[in-house]
Amino acid sequence: MLQHTSPATPCPDPLADARRLSVAPMMDWTDRHCRFFHRLIAPRALLYTEMITTGAILHGDRSRLLDFSQAEQPVALQLGGSEPNDLARAARVGEEWGYSEINLNCGCPSERVQQGAFGACLMREPDLVAHAVAAMQAAVKIPVTVKHRIGVDDQDDFEFIARFVERLFAAGCRVFIVHARSAILKGLSPKENREIPPLRGQIVRQLKAAFPQATFVGNGGLKSTEQALEWMSPSDDLPGLDGVMLGRAAYHDPWILQRLSQTLWAETNTAAQAGTTREAILPALEAYFEAQLKRGVPGKAMGRHWHGLFHGQPGARHWRREISEGESPMAIWRRYAFAESQFAPATSIESRSQPAASHRSVDSRLTTRTRASQA
Ligand SMILES: Cc1cc2nc3c(=O)[nH]c(=O)nc-3n(C[C@H](O)[C@H](O)[C@H](O)COP(=O)(O)O)c2cc1C
Repeated sequence: MLQHTSPATPCPDPLADARRLSVAPMMDWTDRHCRFFHRLIAPRALLYTEMITTGAILHGDRSRLLDFSQAEQPVALQLGGSEPNDLARAARVGEEWGYSEINLNCGCPSERVQQGAFGACLMREPDLVAHAVAAMQAAVKIPVTVKHRIGVDDQDDFEFIARFVERLFAAGCRVFIVHARSAILKGLSPKENREIPPLRGQIVRQLKAAFPQATFVGNGGLKSTEQALEWMSPSDDLPGLDGVMLGRAAYHDPWILQRLSQTLWAETNTAAQAGTTREAILPALEAYFEAQLKRGVPGKAMGRHWHGLFHGQPGARHWRREISEGESPMAIWRRYAFAESQFAPATSIESRSQPAASHRSVDSRLTTRTRASQA
């Protein structure tokens, strides 16, 4: 296979290590409260914002759209747009706001995004995207990356996607996040577009083989550590990918991020990080929850993203219901701990009337675990 290389030494990617594991941009899901929560679970991963359009950034309420806490870093800002000058201006605002990367959305298939002539339909306009990437790169010092699909409608052969990547590579783009499905622009909803077009991870490996100097992060349908490691390992004479990006699995069962972090950073994790538990993140989550409540953020606006923490564990339903209602994490945990110890989540109502001494014993258990995890 023809290899596309550049004679110039590429700038080292400051996010190369974090890129091994990232959480996908997801509209209405990966807001700052969701990202803070994911950060507690995956201290080294790269987190993405929801897509924000250039129009919103240039003319909207920037604080509301862009503010985030430093504890979430590294965070990449995903932009939606197609006009190079606007993208460059929005990228500069993002850099000034403290984001660590600017990512351009070339994968969203929604009707609304198509009407705005951006998202996945940009894959048909490699010259325009190359121009936009070059303009953004000229405007900022942080990495500018592109997230895209492997094809659009019936343009789904390797040559089509390789031409797209080649054009962006020539414009200086070195990081490609590839959702390994085609986008079907007519007839499928965005949700169907994440399920129906077949996953073809092999195409992403072929891209990595053709552009060895570029970084390729694979995305789509990843649900387990084994699958993720498989994508990152060489196979069938093709190289492994540089990283994996998880979307829905990370949202619904966030502890998968902890398991992946343990594996990907096994050599450098401390014993405390390796042994961390779901309960151990609760004090930090509670502190964040209390601080945000004081700033007027409704509990529900945060808790709705935290519902998956105990996925598959005893008492998970109990946690999910109460955290989604905006209850405090520690208060639920006290009740949840009782449910767990009695192997009966349905006892939650009774556990609320347990004597204070029992609550103290749960607290002290939690404190001991937390101290252990901080050691
Ligand atoms: C609710 C939801 C919202 C999404 N919003 C975006 C978005 O704003 N930008 C984007 O590039 N992809 C978006 N996606 C697609 C994901 O980033 C990801 O590519 C896709 O879900 C496939 O990964 P997964 O199988 O790990 O979920 C969204 C996905 C979901 C489920």
